[in-house]
Formats: sequence, structure tokens, C-alpha cells
Amino acid sequence: NATTVSPAHSASTASTLITNIAALVTNNPSLGDNSPLGLIQDAAVVIEGDRVVWTGDQSKAPATDNRLDAGGRAVVPGFVDSHSHLVFAGDRTAEFNARMSGRSYTAGGIRTTVAATRAASDEELEVNLTRYLHEALHQGTTTFETKSGYGLTVEDEARALRIASAHTDEVTYLGAHIVSPDYADDPTAYVALVTGEMLDACAPYARWIDVFCEKGAFDGDQARAILTAGKAKGLHPRVHANQLTHGPGVQLAVELDAASADHCTHLTDADIDALANGRTVATLLPGAEFSTRAQWPNARRLLDAGVTVALSTDCNPGSSFTSSVPFCIALAVRDMGMTPDEAVWSATAGGAAALRRDDIGRLTPGARADLLVLDAPSHVHLAYRPGVPLVSEVWRRGVRIV
Ligand code: NIG
Ligand code: FE
Repeated sequence: NATTVSPAHSASTASTLITNIAALVTNNPSLGDNSPLGLIQDAAVVIEGDRVVWTGDQSKAPATDNRLDAGGRAVVPGFVDSHSHLVFAGDRTAEFNARMSGRSYTAGGIRTTVAATRAASDEELEVNLTRYLHEALHQGTTTFETKSGYGLTVEDEARALRIASAHTDEVTYLGAHIVSPDYADDPTAYVALVTGEMLDACAPYARWIDVFCEKGAFDGDQARAILTAGKAKGLHPRVHANQLTHGPGVQLAVELDAASADHCTHLTDADIDALANGRTVATLLPGAEFSTRAQWPNARRLLDAGVTVALSTDCNPGSSFTSSVPFCIALAVRDMGMTPDEAVWSATAGGAAALRRDDIGRLTPGARADLLVLDAPSHVHLAYRPGVPLVSEVWRRGVRIV
């Protein structure tokens, strides 16, 4: 049976010019003003199929089949949310309430979501995931990574990854989120499961392997064993590192050439040096510090040391129940020492770097035509106008979908 795709939702091979862009973020310095954002004023973009084929000064734009007027608005690459936990059921309103009355955040709350997720049907998980993706898309996320980690049995972890893999290529196996409550008395046996039967069942659906390296979750030796087993199965590591306390996570991430060390809230000088001398991106997740009333990560210290920084939502029901990258940009600028330019770079090109991707997160010839038209004359408004829905158009793979 042939399916008919509505023309409005299919990438055509005709070329489309978007012109009258007041400020265009390309993330290619040499295309623009030589800043990391590669900013071009009075710019135009040409899209053909699912790709960008030209970006530059609008007065030099080539002839195209179609022509659209951005009306003096800003255009930025679609956001790359390189860290989320979207396959789960239920929420943790009571825990949030308790925290806002003074209780502190611990890894233990994860068990509540594990119980709700195990009890949910596939359909329920699918409906929830689709709902959060819809939220994220309307706030400008055109690529997202998401993880398992609320199943913690062979079947429930594989199920989460199977459901996620229908929506994104950036799927992460996080069987090592916490020690499963079923193995509370025998964490060593749980690590054996995570690196054995569970890994075998999950690896076919995943690109990445992650571990929560933290007090109350997994220590450095356990994390090394888990990530090394994943690598042997062809998964590439990323690490939840140094979120709640100083720990071995960041240096382990660099040692194993993880694509990203995520959270990076409690860092020593040695952690910063390791990141500065390795390829591992530091992914900052300000939604988590906001929602747990925790100390902010110091983005300035990382940037000044030359570390590549990504910004993501960490969307999950426990520590950061936001799907909004613009909100995270605003927090990073207000509270983590980032400039608006740096925050926008980190939420686009930075996220792409954290996923080791060079086809997204920038608007240069050959890149995927994932772009946002903002209801604002400049990308700076993403931080300057916090909480205001500025994403007015979302284009993904050359097709306008919002
Ligand atoms: O990234 N840190 C571990 N995992 C999540 C929190 C998960 C939860 O509390 O449900 C995080 O913050
Ligand atoms: Fe997380």
C-alpha cells in the first residue's frame, strides 16, 4: 500500500530561499563575522531537499525556485538536546514539593519512576514520549538524545530503547542508572547483569552507553567496568559525572574518550585539566540545578580553560522536568557565567559535538536544514526574554514542521 505524504510535510528537491533574516547564526566563523557563531546580518539561506546549500549576505543570494521572507527575524540552527530521559511513566510532584520545602535531591527518587515505568504498557510509554517530544519540538529541539534507565530489568531496558529508537538515532543504554531495587543486596550481581545479558539485549537498539557515576549509584570501578563492556559491544560512552559530589566520573569519561561528561557541577582543577586536554565535551544541564536548588555548574571556568561546552535539558521527572532548551539558555546566561552567544552555540553546535555529529547544529552548505525562525531580531533574545515562546517556525530536514 502506497502512503501519500502531504506535500507540506515532504522535503522537495526544489530550492527554497529564506531571505530578509536580520541575524543568522551559522556556527561557522568563516562564513560570518569570524566569531564562533559565524553571525551574518541581513542574511539568506538556501535549502535544497533536506540540506542547506547556501548561506550568506542576502544581496548575493542565488536564484531559487521558491522564495520566503523571514520579515527581519533571526534564524538559528535547530537545538540539539544531547541529554534527556524521556521514556518513563508517572511524575514526581510529591518529591518536587518536598524539595521545595527543604528536602535535598538524591539518586533514590529514581526508584519511584522505575516502579511506575515497569507498570506502564508500551502504549503508555509511547504516548508519554510523544508528548514530551512534541513539547520539545515546539520549543525548537530538532535533534534529541534519550536514554533508558527507568526499567532496570533486561526486558524493561530493552523495551525503553526499542520505543526510543523509533523516534531518534541518538539512543543511550542506561541500565546503570541506579542499582536495581531487585539487586539492592548484591550490586555486584547487578553490574554483571548490566554488562552481560542486559547489554546483549539493549545494544542492538542503542548508539551510546551511559552510567550514573555518583554516590548512591555506581562508583568509579563499577562505571569503568560498565562502560568498557559497552565499548566492547560497539557502544560509545557518555557519563553522568560529578553531579552531586566530587567523584571520578569526569576523569573516567576523558580516560575512556567518552563523547560527553554530563552535569560537571562539582569539578576540581584536575577535572578541568582532563577535559581541556581530551576530546570529551562538558554537557551542562542547568534545568537540574534549577529544579533541585543545587549549586550551579561554573561554565565560565570551563570555557576559560578551553573546554567545549554543550547545554541540554536533562528532561526527566526527577531532577529536571523541563523540555525547554530556551529556558536552559536563559539559566546558563543568568546563573552560569555564559554570554548569550556562548549559550546559543552550546545548545546547537555544542550539542552536536556532544553527539559527535557534524551534520547538525550549524547552518552551512552540506549541513542538515534544521533551523528555527525566532520571533525576535536577534538570537540574544533567547536569553534576554526568558520564558517567552520565541520559536515561531521550526524546519527539520528542509521541511517546515511548526
Ligand atoms: O540526570 N542523575 C541521574 N539521572 C537524572 C535524574 C533522574 C531522576 O531523578 O529520575 C539526572 O539528573
Ligand atoms: Fe540525566
